[in-house]
Amino acid sequence: MPEIPEVTRRLLLGGALAGGAAAAGLGTAQAAVARNRPDGPADVSPRRAPGRKSMINVPFDEHRTVRVGVIGLGNRGSGMTEGWSAVPGCTVTAVCDIRADRARRVADRLASQGRPRPTEYGGSDDAYTRMLRREDVDLVYIATPWEFHHRQGGDALRAGKHALVELPVATGLEELWDLVDTSERTRRHLMLAENCSYGRNELAMLRMAHDGLFGDLTNGHGGYLHDLRELLFSDTYYTDAWRRRWHTRSTASLYPMHGLAPIAAAMDVNRGDRLTTLRATATEPRGLADYRERFVPRSHPSWKETYVNGDLVTCLIDTAKGRTIRAEHDVSSPRPYSRINSLAGSRGIFEDYAGTSSTGGRIYVEPDHSGHTWRDFDAYRKEFDHWLWTKIGDDAENNGGHGGMDYVLQWRTVQLMRAGLVPDIDVYDAAVWCSPIPLSAQSLAAGGRPVRIPDFTRGAWVNRRPGLDTRPSEMPPVP
Ligand SMILES: NC(=O)c1ccc[n+]([C@@H]2O[C@H](COP(=O)([O-])OP(=O)(O)OC[C@H]3O[C@@H](n4cnc5c(N)ncnc54)[C@H](O)[C@@H]3O)[C@@H](O)[C@H]2O)c1
Repeated sequence: MPEIPEVTRRLLLGGALAGGAAAAGLGTAQAAVARNRPDGPADVSPRRAPGRKSMINVPFDEHRTVRVGVIGLGNRGSGMTEGWSAVPGCTVTAVCDIRADRARRVADRLASQGRPRPTEYGGSDDAYTRMLRREDVDLVYIATPWEFHHRQGGDALRAGKHALVELPVATGLEELWDLVDTSERTRRHLMLAENCSYGRNELAMLRMAHDGLFGDLTNGHGGYLHDLRELLFSDTYYTDAWRRRWHTRSTASLYPMHGLAPIAAAMDVNRGDRLTTLRATATEPRGLADYRERFVPRSHPSWKETYVNGDLVTCLIDTAKGRTIRAEHDVSSPRPYSRINSLAGSRGIFEDYAGTSSTGGRIYVEPDHSGHTWRDFDAYRKEFDHWLWTKIGDDAENNGGHGGMDYVLQWRTVQLMRAGLVPDIDVYDAAVWCSPIPLSAQSLAAGGRPVRIPDFTRGAWVNRRPGLDTRPSEMPPVP
């Protein structure tokens, strides 16, 4: 990377300050524990301000085209920018990174692909606020380090834009509430860019659950189990090692959403059920220090760090309907990748990442199966394939990362905005799916005691409504 000492210094400072605040959010957990314990007050949801209304079931205004502004052009943001520009009826009008050279590189690449050249913003940590003043940005996609998401997502809403924010939308409970309040006040949607919720197996699992294949759902198990050790210690991957630094700050489940969200969707969380309590366990932090000992030279800056986050952090979550969800997070141990995706009920069970079939899943449901033996998932995946995958699966596999689910997320987001539909994933889903981050910190700080999970919908969770399991619909023709 070219020498940009001033920018680097400010980014580091911004990172340290924002990270410190976020860590403090986790750290002040103890104070919140008292009022957030199951034996504490029954209602932990702040009242909605007078005159404010929910964003549940609020459709987008119809957009002829969707004009996207991107903040954060590292590994994720630069790849996703190409995905946005490939979706019919979508244009990337502006790109921003604190490192101006990254904005230039992404703009150059889009132009070389024959796409309209986006305007570049960069050079300071608040350059994105200038981008937010543009009239020709409808949707802001945010792919910066976690510590910036709350501020940038809120700023996008306050500027009158809709926001699609990478995981997590925020790391503290107060920040999550603030995003809910800001979305309601500004009447703009803030969505979590939860691409795995659009995975082909995850959506088939959702449809099987809703079709009653598993009987009454009783439990689910998901996670983010990804050996990131090499990337965490790389000097060229995560900018300024932002992700490794989170492991020096707090003991918490830092990123459980990819595994939790599809299970919560199948259980109709916020749409008939809700997450009520969470208790967390954490193993000792061993993996990162052990890796550093074996593979990282003593001169490396990481040797000044102490890793405090447990390698495997497990959240055990109860729902109002008496179901349980186990959500795991481990990025610091040697192991093959898995999001687990297991869902079970009175009539059967599905498990992903387990079978030898081409779809990678295995299943056992009555009355189809008996004899205590797992069966191949492939025929079920075909039968319960979500309409999004039968419609655009080929485009997705050609255009997007992560097996195509990134493109499905992007195509669907653009379709929702162009057709004036209700978001599949709203601010309430985003908030509750990210809440295990601060809540696991609270629970662990209290010796693993259960803590209450706030009801971000303020009571509306009892109402059934579609989420990701929608009826087929068309992308409006490109003007
Ligand atoms: N959904 C997924 O599958 C998926 C996959 C990878 C990453 N992510 C998420 O994407 C986000 C980014 O991860 P990454 O791997 O791309 O990290 P990265 O370090 O490669 O990129 C982050 C970028 O943000 C820029 N940035 C920092 N502060 C900024 C500011 N104030 N204004 C503008 N730009 C700023 C940095 O310069 C950098 O280019 C994270 O939230 C991560 O969790 C999601």
